[in-house]
Amino acid sequence: MFAKFSVFATVASLAAIANAQLQVLSPGGANLWWVAQSSNTLLWNCQQSQVQNFTIVLINSNSSILNGALPIVAIENNFDCSKTITQQQANLPVASNYKVQLANPLNSTDVYAESDFFDIKPLGSAYPDASATPTAGGSSTASGASSSGSSSPTSGSSSSDAISMKSSVAGLVGAAGVALAAMVL
Ligand SMILES: *[C@@H]1O[C@H](CO)[C@@H](O)[C@H](O)[C@H]1NC(C)=O
Ligand SMILES: *[C@@H]1O[C@H](CO)[C@@H](O)[C@H](O)[C@H]1NC(C)=O
Ligand SMILES: *[C@@H]1O[C@H](CO)[C@@H](O)[C@H](O)[C@H]1NC(C)=O
Repeated sequence: MFAKFSVFATVASLAAIANAQLQVLSPGGANLWWVAQSSNTLLWNCQQSQVQNFTIVLINSNSSILNGALPIVAIENNFDCSKTITQQQANLPVASNYKVQLANPLNSTDVYAESDFFDIKPLGSAYPDASATPTAGGSSTASGASSSGSSSPTSGSSSSDAISMKSSVAGLVGAAGVALAAMVL
């Protein structure tokens, strides 16, 4: 009984994330990094999101890289859908374990959405392959066969592993939803 309800709550909250919540689509994860001393792109799910505007903040899990949250854009409208972050807005050291947060402009500890961890790579590094960037609908068009000069065959195959894992998770969630619907009815 208890297990049934907690699984139901998990499925319901996943559905809510997919339909309404603000999400950072890029950067985040091993395939979507930023490049130091360069312009970089922030992309979010503006079509699904219900918020009108937010503030953009960067954090790093290592306090010697960033000591606390670094605000980079005070107010950003959701309808813009993406934002080019210039070197002047964020001139950050090369490091791993950055996250971008989209937060309430009136209270930046009220975080609406947070990216996965990402790297800032040295000046001159290739930008992420365009095929690794998720579409605003939330699905990725990555083929696994990367044409980027900096990607090794190993990272190409691990990215397609990640995608197939994602779709099997989606399959599981879908199956759980159907099973639960059957139970409820
Ligand atoms: C930001 O959105 C809020 C509603 O959530 C609105 O009241 C406010 O006027 C907006 N601010 C700007 C600067 O657009
Ligand atoms: C944090 O960053 C500093 C400076 O780059 C580095 O020396 C240190 O090893 C980092 N600590 C961790 C836990 O990664
Ligand atoms: C800011 O947001 C945090 C997290 O939602 C909340 O705990 C805190 O009370 C808020 N502060 C103010 C002044 O509203």
